[in-house]
Amino acid sequence: MKNKPFIVFILFIVMFGVLYAVFSSKTAVLSPKQLAEEKCSKCHHTFEVVKDKRLTRLEWISIMDKMQKNGANLNNKEYKIILNYLVKEFGKKNN
Ligand code: HEC
Repeated sequence: MKNKPFIVFILFIVMFGVLYAVFSSKTAVLSPKQLAEEKCSKCHHTFEVVKDKRLTRLEWISIMDKMQKNGANLNNKEYKIILNYLVKEFGKKNN
């Protein structure tokens, strides 16, 4: 079979495609909670600092902004997901 190297090459490409698909779907299904834990626990365990708090959206925004100045590395999408999660789970009632 003289096409063998070519077939092996194609197999490699397919394999990387599959690995890539598996990997990217895993990161896509990260829940807001998991994202917050992953991002915020770099410096302190998220729920140790966060769990007793009941803050308004504005107060969470100011904490998030402060954390970014501290060095939290979030893109716009991650920022929004985490902010919404914090407001929902650790927000002030009647707000
Ligand atoms: C780069 C390190 C770092 C990351 C990442 C980080 N923090 Fe912080 N965080 C700090 C430091 C340092 C303090 C204490 C100093 C301060 O208040 O700014 C703090 C304090 C806090 C406090 C108490 C501050 C207050 O005013 O009550 C909360 C709440 C908090 N972080 C939440 C978070 C959340 C939510 C995330 C994820 C979006 C996060 N942090 C990510 C470094 C970090």
